[in-house]
Amino acid sequence: MNTTEPLILAIDTSCDDTSAAVVQGSVILSNIIASQTQLHKQYGGVFPTVAKQAHKENIQPTVDAALKRAGVTLTEVTAIAVTAGPGLAPALEVGLSFAKQLAAKTNKPLLAINHIEGHVLSVLAQAKSRTEQNLTLKEITQSVNYPVLALVISGGHSEFIKISQIGSYKIIGQTLDDAAGECLDKIGRMLNLGYPAGPTIDKFAKLGNPQAYEFPLPLTQVKDFNLSFSGLKTFARNLITDLTTEKSLTKQQIYDLCASAQYGIFRHIAYKLTKILETEQFGEIWLGGGVAANIELRTVIRQTIRDFQKKQRKKGLPASRISFRTPYTKRLCQDNAAMIGTVASFAWERGTKPIDLPRLDRKPRWRIEHI
Ligand code: KG4
Ligand code: ZN
Repeated sequence: MNTTEPLILAIDTSCDDTSAAVVQGSVILSNIIASQTQLHKQYGGVFPTVAKQAHKENIQPTVDAALKRAGVTLTEVTAIAVTAGPGLAPALEVGLSFAKQLAAKTNKPLLAINHIEGHVLSVLAQAKSRTEQNLTLKEITQSVNYPVLALVISGGHSEFIKISQIGSYKIIGQTLDDAAGECLDKIGRMLNLGYPAGPTIDKFAKLGNPQAYEFPLPLTQVKDFNLSFSGLKTFARNLITDLTTEKSLTKQQIYDLCASAQYGIFRHIAYKLTKILETEQFGEIWLGGGVAANIELRTVIRQTIRDFQKKQRKKGLPASRISFRTPYTKRLCQDNAAMIGTVASFAWERGTKPIDLPRLDRKPRWRIEHI
């Protein structure tokens, strides 16, 4: 381990999971996630006041567990990092006030981190190597081939973000309505698949035929890179209503619906990704967020990059090299504090000033462009 790298204790309470992590540079020493899924299942979504109460109960034990797992004491920590937004205001508040008190008590600097930047930089987090030195923050920064196009595809967000360097972001496309994960969850709800339904749809889709039902391809008449999933949700609702007028769905029909809906959602993302690649050159594509755990989505994106390169070659244009990065473990796709710690390490290294404690407030709608 390179001990000159910053040692960060990070906290994320942006939505329904209480998470705390310890990272050194971008190396994860611990990443504890106290999930509230069971609590929110009965509501079919996240219930803010329930989330707030659960965060309050979970935060101290989660932070203690993160320090213990990492084998680190609070005194050794360089700085504390906490998600300030975007997210649910009552949920964010718990993490922020806890982190503020801890920073005041220990006299440690506090960094306010953007949750979406966490999903973006989650692809740069590393597992602790047992055999050799991990890469330093500097080495990672130098290894990136800019500009990067980051896709954040989660339950709350679906965005295309252009990165000219770490810390400098521009949203070039985003959903106009639901997020992709939200769309999967809502379609799953129509099929009684529980909450969140994304992982179940992922599993069932493997047993179904993605061509069984043809979902529409949204926004093909519009030249921008925005996304829209609400039409796909409505299409699914009408389709399910039609299929269930006389008898209930068979198992195979449910598998086929899952495969077709998932394919429809990913095809829309792939279509807009192609349009972006045809317009602008990128050295790397990064994929983060809860839905990035889906292997089929990763495959679709890899294939989209390959198809684009093939088309370039056919046109006699030089095929640009585009690398594709995803988080090294699925645990980094869902909401977690290790990704927040990773952002904080890069921010610390480039000299970002810690925030004055009294000035620190939650920012439920904080856009990544405004960090
Ligand atoms: O990033 P995340 O944990 O929370 C947000 O910031 O939104 O993402 C949660 C979303 C949910 O919509 C969930 O259904 C979806 O990610 N998800 C998946 C998979 N695992 C989680 N969607 C598709 N396939 C998966 N394997
Ligand atoms: Zn998230």
